[in-house]
Amino acid sequence: MKPEKKYPSEVYLNGKWLKPDEAFVSVFDRAFMFGDGIYEVTPFYNGKGFKLKEHLKRLQYCLDEIQVAFDAFSLEKLMYEAIERANLNEADAAVYIQVSRGVAARSHFVPEKIETTVLLYAFPVTLEGFEKKTWEVIATEDKRWHRCDIKSTALLANVMANEEAIAAGFAENLLVRKGYFTEGSHSSLFFVKYGVVHTHPEGHKILSGITRAEVINICADLNIKVVEKPVHIDELVEVEEIFVTGTTTQIIPISSITHKNKKVYSAQKDSLTKKLQEVFIKRTRE
Ligand code: PDD
Repeated sequence: MKPEKKYPSEVYLNGKWLKPDEAFVSVFDRAFMFGDGIYEVTPFYNGKGFKLKEHLKRLQYCLDEIQVAFDAFSLEKLMYEAIERANLNEADAAVYIQVSRGVAARSHFVPEKIETTVLLYAFPVTLEGFEKKTWEVIATEDKRWHRCDIKSTALLANVMANEEAIAAGFAENLLVRKGYFTEGSHSSLFFVKYGVVHTHPEGHKILSGITRAEVINICADLNIKVVEKPVHIDELVEVEEIFVTGTTTQIIPISSITHKNKKVYSAQKDSLTKKLQEVFIKRTRE
């Protein structure tokens, strides 16, 4: 069964705090018409933002890439206000931010005069106990565009990929471009081969995951070698461990991969993933 998702009690929209059923945007908002907007999800452990600056830096990068003039760092105070207003100061939570290019009569070109639509809210998430989970996943063709580094609200290909997995009873869909794994529909992806960690290099084909960067830092501190190189689906026979990472996912090992209705991978070990989880828990709960 699919988990039930709840609305937050309040949202910030263009300078006002509103109940969700009072918060409206125009039908001509470009995020609604074109997916012309950027979003960000930041975790808060016991009410404290984790890697908050890194999340805002990525938001700024994405806004700059699509040429929306907006200061992402101006949202920092509002993020904490959202946590406060939702009574999540001592709980685990996340803050969702969406900056749309704004409202204008429909045109493919960017109108000259336009003001951003800013939406922000906090919501509770379970961040404890992730280390007890394992995921069975599928792998399918990566149907996304060629700028996956931009955290665009246009997530149709990600939604289709994730739904394909969930509808078939799997936890996630690992995406494959020309035979090489890129990342999950909403997670970064790591492989362990002969004790060396492999992950797709940053660039236009993946999102530069904040959790991914932290896992690479942890590997460096533990003297675990990391190679930023894509892994081919035919290399799975040599793979010992696979795990996915993300803001709400954190670090979860993959127990099996099904591809075209055939099991193409079964986990052989989990010792390296466990080590990374242990350090990750320490760092997020510090
Ligand atoms: N998704 N890759 C994709 C395609 C993602 O959507 C995400 C996160 C990640 C992991 O990035 P990070 O570690 O910075 O969360 C990788 C978010 C949480 C979402 O869409 O809700």
